[in-house]
Amino acid sequence: MRKKVIAGNWKMNMLPNEAISMITELTPLVKDTENEVVLCVPYTDLFYSLLTAQGTNIKIGAQNMHYEEKGAYTGEVSGKMLKSIGVEYVIIGHSERRQYFNETDETVNKKIKTAFENNLKPIVCVGETLEEREAGKAFEIIENQTQKALNGLTEEQVANTIIAYEPIWAIGTGKTATSNDANEACKKIREKIVEIYGQNVAERVIIQYGGSMKPENAKELLSMSDIDGGLIGGASLKAESFANIVNCK
Ligand code: PGA
Repeated sequence: MRKKVIAGNWKMNMLPNEAISMITELTPLVKDTENEVVLCVPYTDLFYSLLTAQGTNIKIGAQNMHYEEKGAYTGEVSGKMLKSIGVEYVIIGHSERRQYFNETDETVNKKIKTAFENNLKPIVCVGETLEEREAGKAFEIIENQTQKALNGLTEEQVANTIIAYEPIWAIGTGKTATSNDANEACKKIREKIVEIYGQNVAERVIIQYGGSMKPENAKELLSMSDIDGGLIGGASLKAESFANIVNCK
């Protein structure tokens, strides 16, 4: 049985004092869960969040990183820097970064490799646009993104990569993929991994669904055979709604 990973993605929200309050409120609400609980917070919240989450079962992640260790990359933060303060997870290749910040399949691949070199667990996002879905190309797109993201990784690294299937048309729109559609897409991703790395590796890969996941639809989505967790934006900003997703059974 794969452990479920429920990860919040705060995006560019939450000041340090809000982060501290949210995590303080969340702590007792999720303390008994068997799921892995992760909050991916803005860089400016990382240190405060790590301190507040110390001694709890809440893990802290970043939302991006650079693939070089250090150097003349003004404004960037490296995987080594994240690891040095105790960050455990990092989102890589979120569609907003692909869309607004020139993230490509190649930079995604480099970042995943550097994440592993620094013992960070990557949450790698793939997903199709509405036009691609309507043109019947959704599976081709996500299989391609998955293959390119994982290119050159060892089997062990692939098994430890978390993939978040996030249809772009469902992000922040209130439109969720139906649980069957979401599961089918996650299944396709797993089948692609079976094809390249074999069944044993593919069975270990955590595949999350993301896109307007909220307490009202989480239970059904998370009960599907190939959905092993969620990447949650809007509904992760409030302790109560995020805890309701973590605890839904
Ligand atoms: P949403 O965001 O839950 O607000 O749709 C999900 C994401 O972008 O990771």
